[in-house]
Amino acid sequence: MTDAATPSAPPPWTPSSWRSKDAAQSVDYPHELDGKFKDALNKLKHLPPLVSSSEIERLRSQLADVANNKAFLLHGGDCAELFEYCNERAIEQRISLLLLSSLVIVFGGRTPCVRILRGAGQYAKPRSKPTEIIDGKEVLSFRGENVNGIGLDERVPDPDRLVQAYFHSAATINYIRALLDSGFADLHNPRSWKLSHVHNDELAKAFDNIVERLEDSLDFLKVVGGESGTLQKADIWTSHEGLMLDFEEALTRSYKDSDGNVHWYNTSAPFLWIGDRTRDIQGAHIEYFRGIRNPIGLKCGPSLDPDELVRLLDILDPDFEPGRVTLISRYGNHKVEECLPGHIKAVQSTRHRPVFCADIMHGNTFQASSGPYKTRHMADLCSELVKSWRIHRSLGSKLQGIHLEMTGDVDENGYSVTEIVGGSMERSEEDLPSRYLTFCDPRCSVEQTLDIAFLTADYLTAERTGGKKGSAILSHLTSREPSRGREANGK
Ligand code: PEP
Ligand code: CO
Repeated sequence: MTDAATPSAPPPWTPSSWRSKDAAQSVDYPHELDGKFKDALNKLKHLPPLVSSSEIERLRSQLADVANNKAFLLHGGDCAELFEYCNERAIEQRISLLLLSSLVIVFGGRTPCVRILRGAGQYAKPRSKPTEIIDGKEVLSFRGENVNGIGLDERVPDPDRLVQAYFHSAATINYIRALLDSGFADLHNPRSWKLSHVHNDELAKAFDNIVERLEDSLDFLKVVGGESGTLQKADIWTSHEGLMLDFEEALTRSYKDSDGNVHWYNTSAPFLWIGDRTRDIQGAHIEYFRGIRNPIGLKCGPSLDPDELVRLLDILDPDFEPGRVTLISRYGNHKVEECLPGHIKAVQSTRHRPVFCADIMHGNTFQASSGPYKTRHMADLCSELVKSWRIHRSLGSKLQGIHLEMTGDVDENGYSVTEIVGGSMERSEEDLPSRYLTFCDPRCSVEQTLDIAFLTADYLTAERTGGKKGSAILSHLTSREPSRGREANGK
């Protein structure tokens, strides 16, 4: 709390106290569906939690480690998850990519990594406009699968979708748990994480090199008898934007700790975040989030005033707990130098110890000139990341995590999506139509995700050694120019 603030006791919080405030981005269901809406919420209230309070406590302590610079945070997944992605192959591909990229960070950067999937419930989307024009016709915008469908005949909000969202989250989480329990994340088998899908020779070589060094180290550990069971298991936490407060309230449950204190947990995911459009300090989302014990994210865009950031932290983190809040900055490459220093200094003037995480995606979206594609350029993403590292370092602070929209989706020939241009595959705007599959924001392909993971590992190494490392394959990542003489890659 800042000295200037005169702390008056906040009004009592309940899972429904947000209802007395304005909820931005709320959904208007047709009146004739009022009964169905009530039934859906009642059903959700009676269904079991999707995650347990002890899992949420475990993530709290891991994020405290991140805030104390003892681990790095990798948070990534789809912009808008579809119910259709709830299948064996798609879940394995997502988990593989999260494991692959975190291995690069862990082994390349010599740091433990906390992995949070943007998924297993990332169904609700905030939209800038309630309607959109498709084929000359004005239709309701797609608000995410837990509200309406993408098909033009599915745009009317349907409360049944809230219950469907619960079951699709449950099935996804269940399969992730099954994979992890059966040794999918075993560090002894990183080659089984679909490495064959990396369609870039240099990247594949760099990754192979990491795997070889890892195998060597594991062999050595075995010889000296130091190997512990933790190498077989990895935690993968799930997360989503806590946008639909009716849904979040229905999954909010209370539990007593060993001292008999009652705490409220959102049991739909261990980690939830507040979007840039719903962080109004007087609004319903801030009211709801202040009362749950889950670690929470706060998106910080250019319009967030540094003083307001401090007031938000005072509300969301009244006990100054390291890692209670993760600040997910999303300024864009052109604004990061203008906005980030003020936010870092504002935090430094307080006793709050949030995790500083860079969402290098959401400030860098543009319309491709080649057609109706929303895209991003890897040069912008990587530049925003590099600038963020430098700004933090110059202020005696540290960037502690990255937030990515990414997908492990590959076709039967191993080709990734083509939604973002640039990167080591040197995707151009002309490549976008070949595998442009997103229904919301463009996502990094497998190779682009690994590009960013290698860049991150490089910077973590430089930070640790005080040096200026830079690997050859990444030197051109911040440039918009394709490297001369390189052959066109893949499709
Ligand atoms: C998102 O994360 O997909 C999103 C909508 O972000 P923001 O709230 O930062 O705009
Ligand atoms: Co998005």
